[in-house]
Amino acid sequence: MTPMYSTLQPLLLPKSKQWQAQDFAGIDQLHVGGIESTHELLTWLSSTSKRGLDIGCGLGGTSRYLALHKGCSMTGLDLNDDYIRCATLLNQSLDTVPDCHFVVANSLHLPFTSDSFDFVISQHASMNIDDKFALLEGIFKVLNDGGQLLLHEVMLQPNINPNCIDYPTPWASNISESHLLEWSQFVDKAIAVGFAVTQLEDNTASALNWIREARKAKPKPPFTPPLALGPGAGAMSANVLANIEHGRLQVVSALLSKPPAF
Ligand SMILES: C[S@@+](CC[C@H](N)C(=O)[O-])C[C@H]1O[C@@H](n2cnc3c(N)ncnc32)[C@H](O)[C@@H]1O
Repeated sequence: MTPMYSTLQPLLLPKSKQWQAQDFAGIDQLHVGGIESTHELLTWLSSTSKRGLDIGCGLGGTSRYLALHKGCSMTGLDLNDDYIRCATLLNQSLDTVPDCHFVVANSLHLPFTSDSFDFVISQHASMNIDDKFALLEGIFKVLNDGGQLLLHEVMLQPNINPNCIDYPTPWASNISESHLLEWSQFVDKAIAVGFAVTQLEDNTASALNWIREARKAKPKPPFTPPLALGPGAGAMSANVLANIEHGRLQVVSALLSKPPAF
């Protein structure tokens, strides 16, 4: 497959069109529910939370949105260096360059000091991470006291054997790359790290409707999911749909909080 950067560069430079950030939604909202689910998640963001970290930011759509529409100063972090180069290129193609920059790093080794951020946001970026405790510990450390963790993740439905999940999915080509937990198992780890659960919403029903509609809609070129996920994008979304329809996967949004200092 052609590296994504080489595909995107001729589309964006020279500026043959005045691109708007929302034009990129087909590739930079790589989660079930699309931009609408991002809007819903952000209703929990405190108006005083301004310095944000987007973990597993992909092509940076959520970071761009927060910078452009919520006055945040964002850092987007992802393991995939091609995605990070593209995220930067997408920023540069806009008339107003958003206040967000992107770094290549592993979410298990966050390259930031303690108390660097008012909030951390992560959408569909923990499912292939085995050591969830280390992930949550790292997030807890880089947050300010009283900081917020906004999560939008795919979980196993209770009592489902992980071997039942159909692959490939957008986060794993097979079970050896996938580390799904039930929400209750995930939250036990978060509480052990020191977080409190402030909000929790089960988005599974709306996620199911969204995928069905998204699969019927004609993707708008040139920013279509196969550009970001490769030629297997259709098979991945079919498997996510089947996994949800058969009651194997759950989609949750949650707000976790680091306790304030006394
Ligand atoms: C399904 S995409 C979601 C991207 C973005 N959050 C969004 O919703 O559009 C998951 C992202 O997590 C990133 N990722 C997976 N494991 C990671 C890790 N250990 N450290 C940093 N990023 C990781 C992947 O490279 C990918 O870009």
